[in-house]
Order: sequence, then structure tokens, then C-alpha cells
Amino acid sequence: MKLNIFRQEEFFEEHEFSCRCMLALSGVQPLTHAELAALVPDGPAPGLEVGYTPSAGFDELRTAVAEVYSQVGVPPGANRSGANRSGADRSGTDRSNVLITVGAIEALLITTNLLIDPGDEAVCLWPSYQPLYELVTGAGGRVRFVRLEPDDGFRIDLDQVREAVTQKTKLVIINSPHNPTGQVVPAVDLRALAADLDRQGSYLMVDEVFREMWPDPEPSAWDGAPNVVVVGGLSKSYGLPGLRIGWMVADPALVVRARQYRKYTSLNPGALDQAWATAVLRKRDQILARTNALVHDGLKTALDWLGQHEDVFTINPPAGGGLMFPGLRLDEPTRDFCVRLVRETGVLLAPGSDCYQTEGHLRMGFATSELAEGLHQIDEFLRR
Ligand SMILES: Cc1ncc(COP(=O)(O)O)c(C=O)c1O
Repeated sequence: MKLNIFRQEEFFEEHEFSCRCMLALSGVQPLTHAELAALVPDGPAPGLEVGYTPSAGFDELRTAVAEVYSQVGVPPGANRSGANRSGADRSGTDRSNVLITVGAIEALLITTNLLIDPGDEAVCLWPSYQPLYELVTGAGGRVRFVRLEPDDGFRIDLDQVREAVTQKTKLVIINSPHNPTGQVVPAVDLRALAADLDRQGSYLMVDEVFREMWPDPEPSAWDGAPNVVVVGGLSKSYGLPGLRIGWMVADPALVVRARQYRKYTSLNPGALDQAWATAVLRKRDQILARTNALVHDGLKTALDWLGQHEDVFTINPPAGGGLMFPGLRLDEPTRDFCVRLVRETGVLLAPGSDCYQTEGHLRMGFATSELAEGLHQIDEFLRR
């Protein structure tokens, strides 16, 4: 598999670890070790062997992830019929549906490679997180893009997605809440799309890494259907990107194929990371309460601030996640603006040009306690 340079990461490589104020986050501000230890006092047991683990991940962790996706009781089997697509039909979900991965990125890589053969097509959104389409190209597939338009608030229109599907479409990839716009697609609509795709033997992969950032989030698109794969993890909604724990939830037969594939990518996620992840999911409510509070406060602060700067920015309010994609009205390329900003103030925003091949917009992450100080610095910068 040959892959093009991940352009956003190249930009971040230069600035992410030297900036003083990170306002280009996509997930919630990461926890410090001390915060993690306070919220999750029972971390890995001293007796845990730091050895290899089962390739699908520790059973306990797979079960804990399955529980997140199996909250609503519907008779087992009802989920396979297609007739119940409008409900949350996940009662049969168990660890056989779950593969623990090294970050959500590994789940995306494995799933795309398993489902795309050379010559296949995939339907992807534009703009989007680069791996969501780049991995398709890397696997020899062809991408058909559905464009999200700023004039339409970057709305994700599944009718347009359906129009882009051809007989060659093997996979439709949707990210909801969406990076970088924060747009959300109702789960019921995604399940209906999956039912349509199933008729021609195609799959729907939904990247839901930001799903739990808002309180009372949209339910998962996972409904137990064999042609649906959902991807999640601890990096964004839980603020633990350094644990490198993600997952895919899918039909057990696909999970087995994914486990076999991953023997070549990572063998297994780290034992200590998995042990922490298991403990974290036991304290899920507490961790998500921190996230939800940062999102709640940050969204209000960011929207108020942008409202006071409509001469400089256009606003596209998000419906989920912790990031948004405001337009920059200044007559300056977004890369130049962001580089000047970080050099003069230490505040990092992500330029749409480098990160999304979308000139004229910037990614702003608002779920951080550094937001108010960062916006203050931008105020000073704009006044110069
Ligand atoms: C939409 C999306 N999916 C997946 C990932 C990868 O997440 P992880 O850190 O869990 O590998 C990211 C990271 O930015 C992302 O934005």
C-alpha cells in the first residue's frame, strides 16, 4: 500500500508541539496524567504482565466497548432484518463485534484495506479528514467526492451521497460529527443508507470518534447490520489520544478478518494502554462529564467571540464535536495567516489550505480551557 503525504500532519509536525496555545485540536483537550489518575484511580493492576495480548484486544476491554454500543434492548435478530433500521437495534452486540485498534486510525486503515480492492469505488465527503479518502486511493480504489458547501452550512446531504453511488461503489465513508465542520447526520438516516447499500453488497463505514463529545449525543449508527462498520476510540471524546486506543465495531466475520490483517500492522495494541482503556470505560460518565463541560463552555465562548468578529470570520456553527470551520474574510492565504499567528502569539489554528485543501477556512478547536486566553491573543494580533 502506497500512501500520499498526510498534509495536515506535516503542518502539525512543525507547530503542534512548540505552540503555546493549541486552538487547532479536533478532540477535547487531553487529560494530564494527574487528571487521569484522579478520575480513574484504579489503573492497570501491578500484576499485569506487560506482554503481548490477544490480537483482537483484551476480552474485558472488547466487552466494555460492546456495552457502549448495546444500550437498547431489542429482540436479538431483529437488527439483521432491515425492517428495524429506524430503531437502535443493538442488543446482540458483544465482544465478537469489537476489534481494539491502535487509535481509530488503525481501524480506518484495516477496514478500508479489507473492503476496497483495486478498481473499486468509494464515496467520501469533501472536505474531510485526509485518511478517510487517502486510504481508499492507497488500496487501489477510486474516490467519488460529495462536496459540502459553506453556503449550505456544510450540511451533509445523504441524497447527494446516494447519487454518487454507482455499481462499482464498495464503500461509503461518513464521518459524523464531521471533521472539520462539526456537522452531524442522524443515525436513523445512516441506517437507512446502509440498508440501501446492502442491496448491492456495499458497506457503510461511519467514523464516530467525536460522537460522545456533546451531552445527549446522536446515537451510534451501529445497528448490528453486517454491512455497517463504526469506528470510535478514546482520543477525541475521552481526551486520551496518547493511549492510542481505538476500535471498530462490525459483524463478527469482518472482525475476524480484521484481526487476521492486524497481525501485520501492530499485532496488538499495548497491554498497558488497553488496561488503562478498560479502567477509563468503567469511569466513562466522569470522563465524558469533563468533555461535555469543556465543549459546552467552549462552544459558547467561541460563537460569542466569532459573532464579535464577523468582519474577519464567517461562522458555521457545529452540531456536534469540538471543532468548527469558520471562513477567513481577510485577503490572505489561510496558511500565511496561521503561520503568522503562531509565530507572533503562539496560538495555533489549522489552515484549511494545508489541512483540507480548502482555502478560505480555518479549523478551530474550542473544547479546551486555553480557549479564552487564545482568543484574547488573537484579538491582540488582529489589532496590530
Ligand atoms: C475523523 C477522525 N478519525 C480518526 C482520527 C484518528 O484518531 P486516533 O487518534 O484515535 O487514531 C482522527 C484524528 O484526528 C479524526 O479526526
